[in-house]
Amino acid sequence: MRNRLVVANWKMNGSLQANEDWVKTFAALGGTDCDAVVCAPHVYLMQMVLLLEDTAVALGAQDASEFEAGAYTGEVSARMLSDIGCRYVILGHSERRSLFGDTDERVAKKTKAALAVGLKPIVCVGETLQERESSQTLRVVNRQLNAVLAEVGVEGLSHCTLAYEPVWAIGTGRSATPEIAQQVHAALRTELALHSPELAQTMRILYGGSVKPGNAASLFAMPDIDGGLIGGAALKAEDFHAICSAH
Ligand code: 13P
Repeated sequence: MRNRLVVANWKMNGSLQANEDWVKTFAALGGTDCDAVVCAPHVYLMQMVLLLEDTAVALGAQDASEFEAGAYTGEVSARMLSDIGCRYVILGHSERRSLFGDTDERVAKKTKAALAVGLKPIVCVGETLQERESSQTLRVVNRQLNAVLAEVGVEGLSHCTLAYEPVWAIGTGRSATPEIAQQVHAALRTELALHSPELAQTMRILYGGSVKPGNAASLFAMPDIDGGLIGGAALKAEDFHAICSAH
């Protein structure tokens, strides 16, 4: 049984005041029966550690360096994230891949670095519209998955969560239909089963891309969709709470 995991990716949004208001509002709405995680910008993580201290919400970062320590100006290491109390880290988000040069190889190295300090990586895969239209979807997501698998192995991957985020659905209001998402999630599980049938069963695979309170239940009803990675709708605590509670 895979417990539902719902992750807020705030991206480059928030402020000291807005973050505090968000946590208060979310807590006041009561518990949900999913595992909930908030991934805040690096600069606010320490504030969020304190705000989330007595809540059931876990904290994550949105990226981490592939390097351990040293002369890497502007980078934040996985060890620093773990040191302050982060448990999760998003890696290989399509915005990092397309805007900041994160290659499959770098995402794999970042995953290895995060695992080395006990963080739980949320590894993102997903195709562009052009790749979908040229029937490359499964080739692309399997390539992205296998790059990480080659670096960290089945044991390493067993501490990760996968997130399928079709690039054409991110921030566009155009979510994948539950059926389209389910097809890719099932294919990812089939690919995982080639390496480990057990891991294929236990791996949580999240869907991300224009998930809203209104479409979350139908996406989460799919057998291979184990939760969501939420961008825009996670900026409002009420909407994120509704997505966490969607049935
Ligand atoms: P939206 O929910 O805004 O489409 O963003 C999805 C996403 O990129 C989450 O990581």
